[in-house]
Amino acid sequence: MANQGVNDPIHEPVNTGRRRFLTATTAVVGAVGAGVAAVPFIKSWNPSARAKLAGAPVTADITALQEGERLVLEWRGQPIWIVKRSKAILEALPTLDSHLRDPMSENPDQQPAYVLEHDPELRSIKPEVSVLVGLCTHLGCSPEMKAEIRPEPFDPEWKGGYFCPCHKSRFDMAGRVFQGVPAPTNLVVPPHYYENDTTIVIGVDPQGAA
Ligand code: FES
Repeated sequence: MANQGVNDPIHEPVNTGRRRFLTATTAVVGAVGAGVAAVPFIKSWNPSARAKLAGAPVTADITALQEGERLVLEWRGQPIWIVKRSKAILEALPTLDSHLRDPMSENPDQQPAYVLEHDPELRSIKPEVSVLVGLCTHLGCSPEMKAEIRPEPFDPEWKGGYFCPCHKSRFDMAGRVFQGVPAPTNLVVPPHYYENDTTIVIGVDPQGAA
């Protein structure tokens, strides 16, 4: 009678280690499940792979995009970044002009003219939303986003922007290139327009744009 319960499943002592493992496994499965569910939703915004290669427009819903966040899409095989900029970032941009190679975006190959109409230092249709092709204009690496205003090892006066670790090119939060780095030009702004307040179509100019 003293050993009753050792092989008795009804009276088996609780195995807390196993319970912890099962709880952790359930949490991971739940997280994976959420990820898998999100993919078809995102894909449903976009045309087929064949249409994308041909350059079909890509649509993005930016309703949930928060300040300092970046949404990454693909258009014509290139990464497209849609970034929501804070008021502090917008105020910092003009203060950088004397450090930049083309602060007023005078090179017409790097953006459509309509993104300069509101303010050439912002390079965007809406001040807070920046749309860029995420490829360094030096040799095509994808720069890292360093969106916070704080000292960085590569620039103690950093006001937020993009840093390309390949050869250390720097761009501000409007994609404008700094002087003294290998990248020769500002990041490209792709053609785009707003279908409504929170939907951007990449690859098409606004109606009536020159
Ligand atoms: S590819 Fe970006 S600095 Fe060379």
